[in-house]
Amino acid sequence: MRFNYLKTSLKTAVLATTVLLLGVGLAVGQVGLTAAPTTLVTPDGATLYVIDNDFTPTLRVFDTGGGLLGIPGEPKYLVKTPERSEWSAHRVPRLHVFKGFVFGTWDESAPDFEEYVGDVAEYLNVIFDGGVDGMEVVGGVEKWTIAANWKLSADQFVSDDSHFPFTHASGLSATLRASPELAAKMRMPTPDDSRHVRSKYGHGIGFSTDAEWHEIRQELSLGRDIVAYCSGPHRQANVAKYGEAMGKDFGLTHGLIFPNLGFVGLGMFRQFHPRGPGGTEIHDYVMVPKHAPRELKERWRIEALHTFGSAGIFEQEDGEHWTTIQRNLQSARARKALLNVQLGFGQTSDPQGRFPGTTDAAVTGAFAKIPAWLERDPALIARGRLLDCDCLLGPLHAPFHVAIRAGRIVELTPAPVLMRSWRFSYRATSLAWAQHWQPMPRPGWHDLLALTKRGEAVLEGDLHPFMTHLQYFKDLLALPRQPSAAAVS
Ligand SMILES: [Fe+2]
Repeated sequence: MRFNYLKTSLKTAVLATTVLLLGVGLAVGQVGLTAAPTTLVTPDGATLYVIDNDFTPTLRVFDTGGGLLGIPGEPKYLVKTPERSEWSAHRVPRLHVFKGFVFGTWDESAPDFEEYVGDVAEYLNVIFDGGVDGMEVVGGVEKWTIAANWKLSADQFVSDDSHFPFTHASGLSATLRASPELAAKMRMPTPDDSRHVRSKYGHGIGFSTDAEWHEIRQELSLGRDIVAYCSGPHRQANVAKYGEAMGKDFGLTHGLIFPNLGFVGLGMFRQFHPRGPGGTEIHDYVMVPKHAPRELKERWRIEALHTFGSAGIFEQEDGEHWTTIQRNLQSARARKALLNVQLGFGQTSDPQGRFPGTTDAAVTGAFAKIPAWLERDPALIARGRLLDCDCLLGPLHAPFHVAIRAGRIVELTPAPVLMRSWRFSYRATSLAWAQHWQPMPRPGWHDLLALTKRGEAVLEGDLHPFMTHLQYFKDLLALPRQPSAAAVS
């Protein structure tokens, strides 16, 4: 795995977590006496050190630079004093603090945090910093292990909301039997009730888009009092900070920041730590609005444990499925079967563009307007006056057949068209187009050939018309940059 961000919170001193794959524990707070293997964070959160060497005795004292200061009982128990520099903690080379959470990776060549998280950052704002004055962790960390590969739970947290009425039928019936009022409101979810955001680095967020439906689901997990608070002061603050769509209608149901930071509903987050190919250790936390009354926070913590704690009514059902899938996938028959990943492929989940994230629909809409924008640019038409060409341009999976005559686009038709030929094709991901059309695109996203170099675009076919009119195509495909940049970002 190339990129493995770890995470913890500096907002509280209760978090303990581990770095994915390396499997070392993490303690937050001032550097001091600690037990190896562990991790140190300096008070400003800017520098993180990991003790990944093996040393006995395990207790050592470090300074704030990760240097080894001493070992308790050193003169008595050690015949020879060790070379301090050889047993210092190792600095994590890439760190980023976001909303009080520290993300880090050992990979020095990994992309910047902003690029890595991408559009999902706007959702993290609401999750990590929602409400009147932000969020805080209550209680401690709950840890348990399940007999399933960590990727099963990670995948589940990215994308699968459809399991809810089936996997959780038993938990649902038990919960609803105790609450006839809630049972009267409960219904099967429809595709219009929810959205999924997926990103190129593997993150995913699933959420309700209807505030009323979200309240029903939230009441199921957390109870009516907490829903009342969330629909009152918490929502008002969020609307003021993030607008109507993200502040009111966005209702988080699940999510994952790849590879191992998961979310369950509002207020629960967890990390998945591999414990071999067939095991995962889950570290679970409850996060509540700081502004909420103390009694409500405690209720919130307990209700979260009742539903998605280690013995939670819904967690038990999810865990049972993951372990069963793990067992079945190990069979000789399953090893010969194909894995189908078509669910949701090619779908645009937010055609109106109400929520953050680049959608194919927004990019396609911008492409459809290019001929009209070209007509308003006589200089660009003049630049292509010697060009007659049929080509394929647009989003990677939904390009357009474009007929250019004397520099003018005389036809722009969505592909595929039966028996229609083209001389060259330039297609790019929706993310690439959205970045390319920013008023001031970032380096690497600013140029058509740069996009091919970074693997976000494909140029193929007979390149002669493209290369002989390179500036024409660069200007043509940058036309959406000014008028619609906001609409596709
Ligand atoms: Fe579930």
